[in-house]
Amino acid sequence: MKKITAIFLCMILIQVLTAQTSTSLSNVIPKPVSVIENAGTFTFYKHTSIESPSSLLNAKKLLESQLQNYAFTNATTNNTEIEYILANEKEKMAKEGYKIAITPKVITITAKNIQGALMATNTLVQIQLLQKNAQQIPCGIIIDSPRFDYRGMHLDVSRHFYPISFIKKYIDLMALYKFNTFHWHLTDGPGWRLKINSYPKLTSIGAFRTHNDWKSWWNSDRKYLTEGDPNAYGGYYTQEQAKDIVAYAGARGITVIPEIEMPGHSNEVFVAYPELSCSGKPYVNDVFCAGNEASFEFIEKVLTEVMAIFPSKYIHIGGDEAGKGDWKKCPKCQQRMKEESLKTEEELQSYLVKRVEKFLNKNNRNLLGWDEILEGGLTPKATVMSWRGEKGGIQAAMENHDVIMTPGGETYFDAYQNIPSTQPEAIGGYLPMKRVYNYEPVPSSLPKEKQKYIKGTQAQLWSEYIPTSNHVEYMTYPRAIALSEVAWTPKENKNFDGFLQRLQSHYLLLQKLNVNYYHPSTLVEVFSKPDLTMQKNQINFTSEIYKANIRYTLDGSTPNMNAEKYEAPFYVGGEVTIKAAVVTNESVVHEATTFYANYHKAIGKKVKFNTPWDKSYPAQTESTLTNGIIGTITYSDKQWLGYTTDFDVVVDMENNTSLNKIGLRFMQYIGAGVYMPKWVTFSFSNDGTNFTNPIKIDNDVSDTDRKLSFKTFETKLINTSARYIRVQADNARRQFLFTDEILVN
Ligand code: ACM
Repeated sequence: MKKITAIFLCMILIQVLTAQTSTSLSNVIPKPVSVIENAGTFTFYKHTSIESPSSLLNAKKLLESQLQNYAFTNATTNNTEIEYILANEKEKMAKEGYKIAITPKVITITAKNIQGALMATNTLVQIQLLQKNAQQIPCGIIIDSPRFDYRGMHLDVSRHFYPISFIKKYIDLMALYKFNTFHWHLTDGPGWRLKINSYPKLTSIGAFRTHNDWKSWWNSDRKYLTEGDPNAYGGYYTQEQAKDIVAYAGARGITVIPEIEMPGHSNEVFVAYPELSCSGKPYVNDVFCAGNEASFEFIEKVLTEVMAIFPSKYIHIGGDEAGKGDWKKCPKCQQRMKEESLKTEEELQSYLVKRVEKFLNKNNRNLLGWDEILEGGLTPKATVMSWRGEKGGIQAAMENHDVIMTPGGETYFDAYQNIPSTQPEAIGGYLPMKRVYNYEPVPSSLPKEKQKYIKGTQAQLWSEYIPTSNHVEYMTYPRAIALSEVAWTPKENKNFDGFLQRLQSHYLLLQKLNVNYYHPSTLVEVFSKPDLTMQKNQINFTSEIYKANIRYTLDGSTPNMNAEKYEAPFYVGGEVTIKAAVVTNESVVHEATTFYANYHKAIGKKVKFNTPWDKSYPAQTESTLTNGIIGTITYSDKQWLGYTTDFDVVVDMENNTSLNKIGLRFMQYIGAGVYMPKWVTFSFSNDGTNFTNPIKIDNDVSDTDRKLSFKTFETKLINTSARYIRVQADNARRQFLFTDEILVN
């Protein structure tokens, strides 16, 4: 071989090796404002120097502490350096903005302030963790700044208590994805988790309960035990531990906001200090007595200790789900309402929140609360977390208040990530990663001049069904990675397919850090959409497996690895049983999904509604039941029409039509109060008035089975033709019925 050819081949080999071993800067999540990739790599050596001006010293310290976790080549020659530079006054750079320039010899990190330098450091640490060989990272330039100022992750440590070591891991992971706020839900009915010196019984009694398991405790008489009791379950953080967490988070650019719940969700307080409740007895109330000055003395003393630990601008005071029934019956509360001319109990809550806000403001802090603090009038400077959808957030923004968007449907990570039967028990709901990614925190209905009040978004981790820190990780990742891009990345840079591609390299990071993340599901999701011109359904498969090898059949047989490979959406007419499965590692065929595609005769036909659907679940209104679209596994996908009354509709087939089969599809999910009807009837008419030949189909699905189930109430028809079909379903139970389609063949 000629020498020149050998050198050339060698160069190609080096390029191939580099390509295999280094993950490009373009894989950073959240996707930065701009990334330029350059040739070459930077190598970390044991003697790689890190320089910084004094104002950015804490970023250098963070980098040192993160880098020392890895083994570096112990070379003294051929050294490299990392330099932090304070951007000059004239340089345009956003508050948390930064620039990282990586060349083979030098990494330069430029920021305007320490927060920007910390965000840059978190990015650099992530880039290193994405590499199979952590000693080398690719060259290039990243210029970056966040879309939103507030990028939060919440953690409920009341329903279940997690150790300080885990809180640190939670914060470490947050930092890698540039979240800047840790909302620590420290107090709630199931346990008070922060030592308060002036009220020691809050933790010696209020931090321990009788049962570990949530449902066992909730379904029992919900008792507490004293610290040290052999059966006591719970725990609390000392003030020193909490201060350590504040410092640990601060070193990573993260502010800790404590939440101290009031006036509701406070049962544990009254077990320790019953005199603060309306009845004066333990195990009776869950709201503070708003007529008793001792309640305010308690709140102020507790918040004084809390403020001494947490320097955050915000103090979260909860404010959610406070029942007003106790106040209605309490003479002291009623007396207070009279004295203060408060007309409703909502105004009494607002009175309490106002007093607390005044106290916080006097201490240079701002009040943050869940959207119930809007009821009875928002206090002057409060910031609102909009959890019951976006309505509260929109209202607060219209009133010129800052808002953090935390809607249940998009940001509650206690919801299922996949079909419930495939998952550990969760509280309910359905929030796959894609739905998190597609969340847009600025409502389109909000006028432009009010949009500035939307400060950001946050993931909620309510822990009823999350008993261990390992399980917190399962519920959090990778959904939090998706939310990081919602919170940080410019809207125009977001793209779900691109995100999925980038995400693939992050599984290595999660594995390196021993994160018990949710693995992408091998199930195939099937979507069917009618094409009225072709008179066929367009079939589309997706899977959480990136670029999945999907094999399918149309004859009802189980697909194997030689079955038809899915390349692009295709069309099928009439009734077809589709089975589709993901194949991984060349030959492992996973469980197939079965889908009944049906291009049926009622598609596009008008439906007259004799009984109305429930206003909360209008799906596609009049067109829902004949739009040819089969609902997915969640009733919130806008294809499932909700009913809380009996169901009674008439389909107009436009002409006298011969009918061979008819069906109406329902779902049951009793955890959410969704049941099958007891029966469904079909009857027929040619004048739309007189219906004859009713056929009744009884339900045969158990009403105690908690599994998500689907049933088409259907019947074959012989020698039947009609123009009008009346479909009725019983809902004597007056729970929810959800139906997605009337199928006529
Ligand atoms: C909440 O989920 N109760 C704020």
